[in-house]
Amino acid sequence: MTLQEAVARVLPEAIEMRRYLHSHPELSGQEQETRDYICRKLTDWAIPHRLCTRNLGVIADIGRGSPCIALRVDTDALPITEQTGLDFASRIPGIMHACGHDVHTAVLLAAAKLLKARESELKGTVRLLFQPAEETTGGASDMIAEGCMENPAVTAVLGFHVDPTLAPGYAAFCYGTMNAAATDFTLTVLGRGCHGARPDQGVDAIVVSAQLITALQSLVSRSISPTASGVVTIGTIQGGTKENIIADSVTMTGTIRALNPETQSHLKDTLRRMAEHTAAAFGAEVQLKMDDLCPALINDQALTNRLLALSRELLGEEQTVLMQEPSLGADDFAFFSSHTPGCYFNVGARTEGLEGQALHSPSFVPHEGCMETALLLLTGGVLSLL
Ligand code: NI
Repeated sequence: MTLQEAVARVLPEAIEMRRYLHSHPELSGQEQETRDYICRKLTDWAIPHRLCTRNLGVIADIGRGSPCIALRVDTDALPITEQTGLDFASRIPGIMHACGHDVHTAVLLAAAKLLKARESELKGTVRLLFQPAEETTGGASDMIAEGCMENPAVTAVLGFHVDPTLAPGYAAFCYGTMNAAATDFTLTVLGRGCHGARPDQGVDAIVVSAQLITALQSLVSRSISPTASGVVTIGTIQGGTKENIIADSVTMTGTIRALNPETQSHLKDTLRRMAEHTAAAFGAEVQLKMDDLCPALINDQALTNRLLALSRELLGEEQTVLMQEPSLGADDFAFFSSHTPGCYFNVGARTEGLEGQALHSPSFVPHEGCMETALLLLTGGVLSLL
């Protein structure tokens, strides 16, 4: 049986599993039923597995010994009320698989079944990593800290994401940096409250914040090289209680993105300096808390070459796309690929006739044709690497 035939055979079950998972989404850090579903399937197929990451992640091995190729998917959903009208739409109010992680999980399960049937052909181990809490990040680093990349040591890691801008049957690859490093921050400006008619008696945290927000716009435009890429976004701002009271504090939250560690630490340091000194100029103070979410996602060149060649062979020349630019989005697959050579790719999931398709949208409907593409590349990748 060719790989294409084996994929075609497992595909109906993959779609069935995906639809079940789609109707039973769970938020990051609460993936109990998803974990149970994964474990039931693995048990049915006699694939040994264990739990990790507060018992929400699942690690399974097929084959034995080195080399060891890891396949990683994310399993969590989002706090979104689904508006797709699908007959297998979410049954859980306010929670939806709007980022395709249902597709990712079902593809890895189907790949597990296919590879288990070919276990005798494998010269090494396939390690399946079902990772919780991607949307909140943290799931990946926890799994790694708990040893998912050891015994035997993982030699290469593959992962993928559905892409609603790319047609089904297509896959997109990226050499080098594919996604940004991300740092979230909470910035509180502490002024001094007083009567709105006597501003001289206080320090207006709203006026200070307005100056600060304007000043921060120069971080990317004036403090990093024009050829480097970075983003500083303030996403929320809250302050004040009443129209005639000078606000004594304002709290903002935001995110910093950068494609390399130098730009990331430069933006962090400069943001801190600018916040402290701008506030000081007005007699205010700041409290600044920064959390590094994940490093930049960097694809290994040799592994990307292998996957590109495989994609041209399995999908076709035209269907194999080389991404020209990285994204400033973040994906915590970066933790795995900064630990071990990795390759992350996108599979086309565009549904024709549905406008405004975007990840994290309440009307997101990925084309299920993407599952065949992902299955071919994951299982073909493993079979060519082992
Ligand atoms: Ni996602």
